[in-house]
Amino acid sequence: MSVEPRVSLLDMVSCLSSALDLVSPAVVNHQKRTAFIATCLAEEMGLPLQEQVAVMTAGLLHDCGALSLQSKLDALCFDADQEDMHTHCEVGAVFLGKMEQRFPGMAQLGLTDLVRFHHVNWDEGRGEEMAGRPVSPASHLIHLADRVEVLIQRGVEPLGQVPGIVRRVFQERDRLFLPEQVEAFASLAGREFFWLALIYPEFLEDTLVEKSAAGPLVQLDLPGIVNLAQIFAEIVDFRSRFTATHSSGVAVVAKLLAEKAGFSEVESRLMSVAGYLHDLGKLAVPREILEKPGPLTTAEFNVMKAHPFHAYRLLTPIRQLEMVAPWVSHHHETLDGQGYPFHLAAKDICLGARILTVSDIFTALTEDRPYRLGLPLDEAVSVLESMVKDGKLDGLAVSLLAGNRAEFNDMRQMVQAKAVCGYADIQPYSK
Ligand SMILES: [Fe+2]
Ligand SMILES: [Fe+2]
Ligand SMILES: [Fe+2]
Repeated sequence: MSVEPRVSLLDMVSCLSSALDLVSPAVVNHQKRTAFIATCLAEEMGLPLQEQVAVMTAGLLHDCGALSLQSKLDALCFDADQEDMHTHCEVGAVFLGKMEQRFPGMAQLGLTDLVRFHHVNWDEGRGEEMAGRPVSPASHLIHLADRVEVLIQRGVEPLGQVPGIVRRVFQERDRLFLPEQVEAFASLAGREFFWLALIYPEFLEDTLVEKSAAGPLVQLDLPGIVNLAQIFAEIVDFRSRFTATHSSGVAVVAKLLAEKAGFSEVESRLMSVAGYLHDLGKLAVPREILEKPGPLTTAEFNVMKAHPFHAYRLLTPIRQLEMVAPWVSHHHETLDGQGYPFHLAAKDICLGARILTVSDIFTALTEDRPYRLGLPLDEAVSVLESMVKDGKLDGLAVSLLAGNRAEFNDMRQMVQAKAVCGYADIQPYSK
């Protein structure tokens, strides 16, 4: 492939939003539904299109800082204490700030503060500011949308719930929510369409796609895709201090290996996207399993084995990333058909996937973890070579890496050391 793909920002944001919702499977689509409610409210209030796009985008990512199950559960409890919400709002603001830095078009939307303040109570007007900083009505709108989403009981016919939800929201008028936003909600709530559209995800997607067309940054070029994938990786890796820079290491090793294997410039850069995204599906794996010191039980390993499948599910719909999706989805396949989750035969595992698999294992073996140092370089290469002999890994990929081992390892170390610095601003929040 030599033509650079372009991907819609919304497709990428929406993919990340769905990936983040995997952290708490019981409330699937929480962010997407919140984005839909917030966008409908913004439209109901006659806000300019640009602001509608801002609340929609912030809605899609508003809980991106809630990465442990507990923080997610806290965020999903209607009466949760504001103090308990503080951390996920601040961590989320850091991630959004990173996105805005790299995508100046996004900065116009003011997403960082929308996310930072999305749990500020209106408090009879005192919620106009927090710690001396103004809190915009749009932040309060996301707060209201988020709380409404939490009130809707899953698996229960929605229209029958409407009077109770409206009553509850009115009770909190002026205390939690801005009065004019409560009025707008009451009029929106009278339309059955709104509630029915909420429970059918295809309507959510359609509405979001339509709104995003008015956004400031619709298409990402290849450097933009790489940049955004890197931020995704930081979010995924942030969940576990055990693997805090793992995806950055895999991305650089995989890109270099692709170059050595003769991939084009575009394909090699897409390989670094694959490296950044390879463990996206691990958002569905609880931290206790990710960080378990001993061997996993069968039940725990079953949860782990689903992670490449989640990536497959999330990435396959993005047509322009059709090359990346199989690389990522097959990074735990082995040439002897014993890998997971597809158990592909060797003939069905493309070279890109083989390269990613080798890069993943090489990085895992050589990087330091909090509980152990990385293997010495030659030992790590020996492990890979014995896996080639056992019919697991691709011989060409491993020999390219073995022949240039010092170069690979230096690059990996340099990039991972740099990635550690990237975490400085969120480190205080990691537990
Ligand atoms: Fe939240
Ligand atoms: Fe939320
Ligand atoms: Fe993995």
